[in-house]
Amino acid sequence: MFESDIYQEIVNSPKYQRLKKFRQHGKYSVYEHSISVCRACFKIAKRLHLKVDENALIRGALLHDYFLYDWHDKDCPKHHFTKHPALAAKNAKRDFGLSAKEEKIILSHMFPAGLKVPSSKEAWILTIADKYCTVKEFFERKKK
Ligand SMILES: [Fe+2]
Ligand SMILES: [Fe+2]
Repeated sequence: MFESDIYQEIVNSPKYQRLKKFRQHGKYSVYEHSISVCRACFKIAKRLHLKVDENALIRGALLHDYFLYDWHDKDCPKHHFTKHPALAAKNAKRDFGLSAKEEKIILSHMFPAGLKVPSSKEAWILTIADKYCTVKEFFERKKK
């Protein structure tokens, strides 16, 4: 995963590096959260012996929260919780290009919130990995 060109290309791009500025959960930036989620997706796939579309999983995971603002700011877009997958998909499409499958993976990552049901193995893996990392980040913040 880390050595793949697709992963390196996105993570090292100046556009993606902007995610370091936005806080996600506790002390974690959106950048750190997205990388943890990507790593967790591959752990889940490996643990369950699932054959996955690696490129779609990497791109979906890295770009699932590419909404490009700090949701803690009081002037951030309204209804962030349910609306951010659509914003992330729109921005990711503009900056990195997305296949239809990758777009769907991003759009359903908040399932069951937002009501978009994951429609591929990769989308299910992402929705689980995202929740796992969110809970972990939240409790790590609590410990501090
Ligand atoms: Fe999200
Ligand atoms: Fe997330």
